[in-house]
Amino acid sequence: MVNKATVVFLLSLAVLGHLPQSLCWKREENSIFFDGAVFLHRNFALETDILRKVKTSGEVHCGLACLSEKDCIAQTYCAESWAKTKGTCYLHKNGIKDEQTTGVLVRREECTYQQYINFYEASCSRQCHNGNRCSYDYDNRRYACRCEPPCTAIQFRFTTLGMQGNSGPTSTAGYVNTTLKGAVTLHNGIQIWTVPFTALYELTVAGASGGDTSFSGGKGAIVNGSVHLTKGTELHLLIGQKGLKGTGQNVGAGGGGGTFVVFSNNTLLAAAGGGGGPGGQITAKNGDNGQTSRNGSVYGGVNGLGGSVCADEVSNAGGGGGFKGDGKCSTSIMCTFPRKCNQGGLSYLNGGLGGSGNGIGGFGGGGAADKKFPGGGGGYSGGGVYASSYTPKGGGGGSYYTGEMKPSNEVNAADGYVLIDFDGSLL
Ligand SMILES: *[C@@H]1O[C@H](CO)[C@@H](O)[C@H](O)[C@H]1NC(C)=O
Ligand SMILES: *[C@@H]1O[C@H](CO)[C@@H](O)[C@H](O)[C@H]1NC(C)=O
Ligand SMILES: *[C@@H]1O[C@H](CO)[C@@H](O)[C@H](O)[C@H]1NC(C)=O
Ligand SMILES: *[C@@H]1O[C@H](CO)[C@@H](O)[C@H](O)[C@H]1NC(C)=O
Repeated sequence: MVNKATVVFLLSLAVLGHLPQSLCWKREENSIFFDGAVFLHRNFALETDILRKVKTSGEVHCGLACLSEKDCIAQTYCAESWAKTKGTCYLHKNGIKDEQTTGVLVRREECTYQQYINFYEASCSRQCHNGNRCSYDYDNRRYACRCEPPCTAIQFRFTTLGMQGNSGPTSTAGYVNTTLKGAVTLHNGIQIWTVPFTALYELTVAGASGGDTSFSGGKGAIVNGSVHLTKGTELHLLIGQKGLKGTGQNVGAGGGGGTFVVFSNNTLLAAAGGGGGPGGQITAKNGDNGQTSRNGSVYGGVNGLGGSVCADEVSNAGGGGGFKGDGKCSTSIMCTFPRKCNQGGLSYLNGGLGGSGNGIGGFGGGGAADKKFPGGGGGYSGGGVYASSYTPKGGGGGSYYTGEMKPSNEVNAADGYVLIDFDGSLL
């Protein structure tokens, strides 16, 4: 990145004759600076918007003076007729509109007008607030920060759209009175949304809680923090749904779904674990909360895989699905040979359906319950299940975040959600 100091340094070299005395710099790769940095009108002067005037020996020194002055965008250098090496340098705080030279510039022999175009644009964009863009304001002849609407704060709130059970929403009608009206499309229950403007956003991702029996489902984990998102980026959001209680006496409940925010290339941005289901009979345990670390709890999955079931009694309870691996059931009373089953929640990459059984797992990979045994929560890694005769318990799914995001110390006792907050007043 070329900064003002470098420009002044380069100009000094030019003065010393090490560079051609042209003020046209080649822009460096990835730099927003200097791509043919000036436009120039010989035999013209700007007689307004003068910050100050100085005597300089030549045009290049006049350029140095302008670039060293914070608000200088343009200069007029007028040579004294008897000696072309000395002259008066006028530093301007506003420029001209490129194609409207006449009427603004005044014809003066011996004077040269130069405007530092991209330079000023770049210094202006450093000062613009979150989401604002620096652009040339022709009416006022200067670069200024302008809002891309909205200039104030706005919140995008993604919900389950009223859907319950192991599959996702089929209609976006619930967004009709919200900032998401018309902005979300559905693909197998996953919500697809395009980032509306480039800015720093506050992202909050909450997993769903497990279903309740006479014991409580584990609560969903919450992760939050700022993320920089670029306009046009497509996000895929799977909002976890609560696990459900089975029908009948002493039955367990399904695990809550994890909530996932994923780029369209299937790179995960953040995920929050769903809570595990509680067992169904009198000595059962509450479900475990969604975990703020990446692994699921209670024989949970690791590194994005699904949860397992460990039992002291044969059980069809399902583990929660992870980001890339499905939740499992146990083969026997052992946990060493997991098997595929309908009660296991599917991974995000396999569609994220919750497990089916008596006590359905929530969309987002929640595992289903079987008899008194609960299901595990979905998440980055799925929660597992302890299918014990006396103390059955569902584990919570794991969470995923990077960069500025952190686990919140709050938990979520309902369906999952995602908040994407934009604050136009942030610098
Ligand atoms: C949207 O707002 C209108 C007008 O206030 C109201 O009649 C309607 O029920 C609202 N719809 C939803 C889905 O909230
Ligand atoms: C996350 O949310 C909590 C509670 O709303 C808030 O206090 C905290 O500052 C947020 N964390 C980050 C990293 O923004
Ligand atoms: C996926 O897309 C995101 C956002 O556009 C990008 O930051 C990331 O590098 C991409 N990852 C891969 C593996 O292509
Ligand atoms: C997750 O589990 C794996 C395998 O046991 C372990 O290597 C890793 O350290 C665990 N991660 C965390 C964050 O505890």
